[in-house]
Amino acid sequence: RMDVMEVFNGILFPGHLHTQDSLEIALKFPFQDTDILIASYPKSGTTWMQEMVTLISNRGDPHLSQTVPNWARAPWLEQHYFAAVLEASSITPRVITTHLPHHLLGLTLQSSKAKVIYVSRNPKDVLVSFYHFHKMANFLPEPGTFPEFLNRFLEGTCELTSRKKDTFIFQCLVTIADFMQLDEMYNILSHLFVPVSYGSWFDHVKEWTSQTATMSNLLHITYEEMSLDPHGTIKRVSSFLQCPLMDDEVNNCVKHCSFSSMKDNKMVNYTQIAEEIMDHSKGSFMRKGKIGDWKNMFTEEQNQYFRSVFKSKMQNCILEFVWD
Ligand code: PPS
Repeated sequence: RMDVMEVFNGILFPGHLHTQDSLEIALKFPFQDTDILIASYPKSGTTWMQEMVTLISNRGDPHLSQTVPNWARAPWLEQHYFAAVLEASSITPRVITTHLPHHLLGLTLQSSKAKVIYVSRNPKDVLVSFYHFHKMANFLPEPGTFPEFLNRFLEGTCELTSRKKDTFIFQCLVTIADFMQLDEMYNILSHLFVPVSYGSWFDHVKEWTSQTATMSNLLHITYEEMSLDPHGTIKRVSSFLQCPLMDDEVNNCVKHCSFSSMKDNKMVNYTQIAEEIMDHSKGSFMRKGKIGDWKNMFTEEQNQYFRSVFKSKMQNCILEFVWD
């Protein structure tokens, strides 16, 4: 089945795109000093940043971003097709994407001066976007109800799955359920054991942003900043990449990475992906592209609960976040 998960270092990854080998290989990847790495928790503006970086590297010319799919021009380091895509590509500088947490990638990154752009977004909007994405992406488990998904998101890395023995038991049970095609058992298991895929948003953001104090080759950009000040963001990113642009080149970048342009660009809107992988009748990847959509989903009670969990989990975070 499509939504079988890979458990790696206590974190769940969609088995359709990841294997133990592809994840192991990612942790030892020899970055080059000229590489650009886009790191993010899912649904934080990854695709948008891939588009921005492609456009900046091409001085606002949309040819590459309109002819090569994003996963081929900025492949995900941890996914199984990565090595083949990278080898076949002649695009320079190399742009690589990752959803891996910093504690897994930090060591190999240290051995190069690769430029890293970390993208974050209001976690409440991430959660809502991720919830809708789970409904259409057949390689992710059913999200359940919104309150159920909210709890899983707040839990992040589940205690049970982060312990080796329990991870093993979990894998055995999933394998049996899968082998016997016990959909019901699989669903029960995913709700009992499975926290949200890619680990805890809180840990991901804390770990990566804590590096901004020491890593001069790390730029932290927020989705909100990209949305409220696209020109300023393009200038910040282009100067970080040492690719300063003329004003009309900045304008072209802004135009081609707007939500409306990207929604219509088949190379980034995932409409070319087969129906059995993404069910387009259940939603679209380029869904709303807005700040604050969480307000349409959260009750006041859920918002208060989220706030209290956020406060306690983020208390040792060096960055101040300004989300409402
Ligand atoms: S993924 O699956 O991790 O690669 O997803 P990711 O690209 O990180 O996030 C998808 C959300 O980003 C929105 N998006 C944009 N918003 C505004 N402008 C532009 N150009 C843009 N491109 C992508 C996309 O619509 C998803 O957010 P939601 O809230 O679901 O609309």
